[in-house]
Amino acid sequence: MLGTLLMLGNLPMLERRHAAAASGARRCYNGLMQTRRDILRHGSVGLLTLAAAPLLAQAQEGSVRRYRLIAQEASRRLLGEDRPETPLWAYNGMLPGPPLQARQGEILEVEVENRLPQPTTVHWHGIRLPLAMDGVPDLSQEPIVPGASFTYRFTLPDAGTYWYHPHWASSEQVGRGLYGALVVAEATDYAGADREMVWVLSDLRLDAQARIVGGFSNPMDASHGGRLGNTALLNGELARSVALAAGERLRLRLVNTANARIFSLRFQGHNPWLVALDGHPVPPRRLADDEATLLGPGMRADLILDATGKPGERFAVNDIDQDGRGYRLLHLDYAAAAVSSRAGFGGAVRPLPPNPVAEPDLARAERLELSMAGGAMGQIAEASVHGHRMSLRDAFRQHGVAWTFNGQAMPSPERNGLERNGLQQASHGGHGAPLFDLKLGRSYILAVRNDTVWPHPLHLHGHAFRLLSRNGRPEPARPFHDTVLIQPGEIAELAFVADNPGDWMLHCHILEHQAAGMMAVVRVA
Ligand code: C2O
Ligand code: CU
Repeated sequence: MLGTLLMLGNLPMLERRHAAAASGARRCYNGLMQTRRDILRHGSVGLLTLAAAPLLAQAQEGSVRRYRLIAQEASRRLLGEDRPETPLWAYNGMLPGPPLQARQGEILEVEVENRLPQPTTVHWHGIRLPLAMDGVPDLSQEPIVPGASFTYRFTLPDAGTYWYHPHWASSEQVGRGLYGALVVAEATDYAGADREMVWVLSDLRLDAQARIVGGFSNPMDASHGGRLGNTALLNGELARSVALAAGERLRLRLVNTANARIFSLRFQGHNPWLVALDGHPVPPRRLADDEATLLGPGMRADLILDATGKPGERFAVNDIDQDGRGYRLLHLDYAAAAVSSRAGFGGAVRPLPPNPVAEPDLARAERLELSMAGGAMGQIAEASVHGHRMSLRDAFRQHGVAWTFNGQAMPSPERNGLERNGLQQASHGGHGAPLFDLKLGRSYILAVRNDTVWPHPLHLHGHAFRLLSRNGRPEPARPFHDTVLIQPGEIAELAFVADNPGDWMLHCHILEHQAAGMMAVVRVA
């Protein structure tokens, strides 16, 4: 049964210009089509600084793509003309932030200016980069204080769908609108789609005056399922109609940037093919009728969707949870005219070229165990914080933590550093000893057991890992992930080569769980 998540009535569908699928892949937010040249010319919505040249068809090894992001206060009329504006925090005033685009092998250089009333950083979720560019305050850099700037610069080793967001007070900063997509095109153009779209899926928690509700990481959210919004957004909009043309083959890049919402999408009347997870290719697999595409916070999926409907038809894409409750996330609206595909509409789907991720040596891998515990209705009574054992009650009262990894809870650095030492000394020292010490170049199998009654999307920085099995059942494609959703009671085995030196975050991507202790440092040296 389809209920509605929205506290606000139906909005009229926005009519959108539909350009025929013509030359090459196109990128867009909001089903609003733009060729690369359009994006370059208009900078999507002003403010977006792009490199002087369009993406070339071939990678230019070492060429630099430059952007500028300003984290600032902004406001947007999200709920309709007759409703008040919603004050946000947004990159360049845009929700989501500007779509950053580059090509595999290029260098991405992003100058970030902080005009927020608190420190920030930017983390490049899923990108395998040097630690100093990873955007984790306390661990890889000083936070960018209000008024300051920081320039990130790193090579993009992998193609795929990624995203960026703050790693300081993430629950509040992401929850107020700071997130955007980062699309890395394959080194050579993928010819398996007529055009592509980025779908940034998120939600906001709004009050009756359309303001973002405060109380980030309150005890209730922190110890239960995190901060669920009451207003789901597609590319920052409530009016969620996506225009397509009968006969075209689309690549959809789905990104879940929500604080806590797990999206479970079902495409009415269509059977998309899954071609990539968390940016990394998987052997193309056609989804069964009504099979859900499940995306925990932080996760991405690339789908190839053949527009098999007829001109003028309309189909729903629903977000339905495990209990069968759901709502219509968006409509697919077919334009009046059909197009003819140049990308093999209706035929076999072309696999994406693999990324250069090191293959774990399973025969020689060392096994590590990780138990996730705590939270509401959890079984544990104690936690260790900075090496001190205490009751979970005291740990929550004194340090705001409610969850543990192997019995340890890590208080968030902003809480730790800011409250204790003030802004300037917030860095270095808040994270404590690493949970795992890994040897550079060695393969590991991490067996993760979810001993809580809540699902957790577990995210590892700086690496991609293969998902080997769930509950002892081998995963057929052993997909690479940087974030994997682990269900209550489930055991998942992940395998990776510890090939990126540094102190890396391992945390739940439900941002309120992260803030409440569900994180750790993994040292690779
Ligand atoms: Cu997308 Cu450590 O986060
Ligand atoms: Cu969690």
